[in-house]
Amino acid sequence: MAEVLVIGATSMVGSDFVQHGGFACAALGRRDPRALGLAVERFDSVDLEDPLALHRRIVQAPEPAIVNFAAITDVDGVEAERPVDLGAAAGPAWRVNALAPAYLAHGAGEGKRQFVQVSTDFVFDGEAGPYDETASRSPFSPRVSWYGWTKGEGERRTLVILPPSAIVRIAYPFRADFPSKLDFARRLLQRYREGSLPPLYTDQQISPTWIPDVTAAVGAVIRQRFSGLLHVASPDLTTPYEFASALIGESVGHRVDLPQGALGTGAPPAHRAPRPLKGGLRSVRAAGLGLRPTSWQEGIRQLLRISGGRS
Ligand SMILES: NC(=O)c1ccc[n+]([C@@H]2O[C@H](COP(=O)([O-])OP(=O)(O)OC[C@H]3O[C@@H](n4cnc5c(N)ncnc54)[C@H](OP(=O)(O)O)[C@@H]3O)[C@@H](O)[C@H]2O)c1
Repeated sequence: MAEVLVIGATSMVGSDFVQHGGFACAALGRRDPRALGLAVERFDSVDLEDPLALHRRIVQAPEPAIVNFAAITDVDGVEAERPVDLGAAAGPAWRVNALAPAYLAHGAGEGKRQFVQVSTDFVFDGEAGPYDETASRSPFSPRVSWYGWTKGEGERRTLVILPPSAIVRIAYPFRADFPSKLDFARRLLQRYREGSLPPLYTDQQISPTWIPDVTAAVGAVIRQRFSGLLHVASPDLTTPYEFASALIGESVGHRVDLPQGALGTGAPPAHRAPRPLKGGLRSVRAAGLGLRPTSWQEGIRQLLRISGGRS
């Protein structure tokens, strides 16, 4: 029998856990992770938008720990699903990000299993970051993206239904390789090579997460039976402009002049979701689990070392 049931094993973040987490994993989801070359002991097909099927699969699964990496992560795309009235919340992001974690937590609780939900710094509006684990999630407002709100609702429902659950929040995750999807760091490198870099914000505060740290953190959460909120992100803050300058500069071996822009405090342009301006996570509890999140500068060095600059 596998040790961990992974939901979202095909995701950019979850696939690293399946590959390098050190657990025998089973997977539940839409796409078979074996098609991506990921080794899992069992795969069961389910759409997270189908609560009955999801519940059935979860109560039948024998694994003692369940980790949910799955989400609809197209932050700008799902903004179109934002309802005027919260009572009318519907749509795929609502069902996958807010409701599915609740069904998973419920099923995990019925079987007395451990449940870990992966979440995001976008639950905060970016008025007063960086945020540690004691900070309250921001209220619903035009400054919180619909993606961030649905993820926050997934967190809240999880903790109401199964209080011993763990919520692992991460921010701007990046890794050295994952052909199925570019993270923000590898997208910056690609756009630089194509000559299509957009203006990069000099005023947005972020704390990028090196994805292998998420794998280590989720592993520690499971082994040490941690419950509650845990932040995993670079201890140093940066901006998209500073991060891109360091990444691309190290990649090409000389200083580069990149286009600058500002996120500002006004409403986002049409078809763009709001993003936290003064965002970022402070990982205060990580040390208690024996974790030391990687700085964004070290993450860049590791990315370029592992990928040989090919990312
Ligand atoms: N990417 C970021 O910048 C970021 C930042 C902070 C936090 N996070 C969080 O980290 C986690 C992983 O993010 P990621 O970027 O690695 O995700 P991703 O690569 O976009 O993958 C999304 C995953 O969710 C699954 N999924 C989506 N809808 C589904 C449905 N209806 N039924 C079954 N599975 C479904 C996908 O399955 P298929 O392969 O079948 O489509 C895939 O495994 C998420 O919880 C996300 O909120 C991400």
